[in-house]
Amino acid sequence: MTGNEIIVETRDLTKIYGDGEEIRALDGVNLTVKRGEFLSVMGPSGSGKSTLLYVLGALARPTHGQVLVDGQELTTVKDLDRFRNETIGFIFQLHNLIPTMTALENVEVPLHEQKVSGKERRRRSREVLELVGLGDRLTHLPNQLSGGQRQRVAVARSLVNQPSLVLADEPTGELDTVSSKETVDLMHDMNRRLGTTFIIVTHDPAVARRTDRVLIMGDGRIVREDIVTDPYTEDLRMLKASPLGTAILEGRDELSLDGVALFKDGQLTETGRLLRELLEQV
Ligand SMILES: Nc1ncnc2c1ncn2[C@@H]1O[C@H](COP(=O)(O)OP(=O)(O)OP(=O)(O)O)[C@@H](O)[C@H]1O
Ligand SMILES: [Mg+2]
Repeated sequence: MTGNEIIVETRDLTKIYGDGEEIRALDGVNLTVKRGEFLSVMGPSGSGKSTLLYVLGALARPTHGQVLVDGQELTTVKDLDRFRNETIGFIFQLHNLIPTMTALENVEVPLHEQKVSGKERRRRSREVLELVGLGDRLTHLPNQLSGGQRQRVAVARSLVNQPSLVLADEPTGELDTVSSKETVDLMHDMNRRLGTTFIIVTHDPAVARRTDRVLIMGDGRIVREDIVTDPYTEDLRMLKASPLGTAILEGRDELSLDGVALFKDGQLTETGRLLRELLEQV
């Protein structure tokens, strides 16, 4: 792996809070995240997940150890505010939109720090709001939007600077199942289309299952790591394991995802249903 393929690297990352009774919120974390990864972090309350995001996002300083983001060791960055503003997007559980600002104005906020004209700010913000499907809600205030739509505005705001890395702390924590799925769909879509790396802290296994890799934290350490096999790969395995499935696959010159996938976006597709029925008859 070349340096450029790695977006986040930590070495022995440690964060100790308090001077009396010390709390080791992070205890020697070594982590490498590849550019373009869609990653989740799980673990019990107090295990250090939010602290990890704060330190990676340069919102908190490590006690010792190193953090490299986009090739830069954070402690050597001269203008940290600027670096953060240009490189990292944040999404929090409570979207923390400004209640008196419209959707468009909220999305513009990160651009105020940059030398961008008002016209250009509005243009870019409108563009990302359209991208997240809210092109017709530009002038709505947060309380005139649904919970899911508010979180979409927060996703749009996190992306408006075209960051390389988005750090999301329980972005679906306050949402119902449908809005939660929509928000993950949206982040996943942005990850695939724009190549933005996402690190998503979540308590929801349904969210973690949608990511490429799950880190499990415990007591400030990464205690386990799971690569998520996506449903498509699972189904392909199942297909290959059966004689009929093999015949179907061998009859094809090329593996078309739509043609063979039993699942698409977690849903059984029409093709999938037919194939499954065929397989059940064997
Ligand atoms: N600013 C702070 N000052 C002192 N201790 C803190 C501070 N922030 C967090 N901690 C402590 O550090 C540990 C890790 O906290 P952190 O917020 O990272 O946990 P978490 O995994 O995000 O938990 P949750 O799932 O509840 O959000 C906890 O024991 C917490 O009490
Ligand atoms: Mg937390």
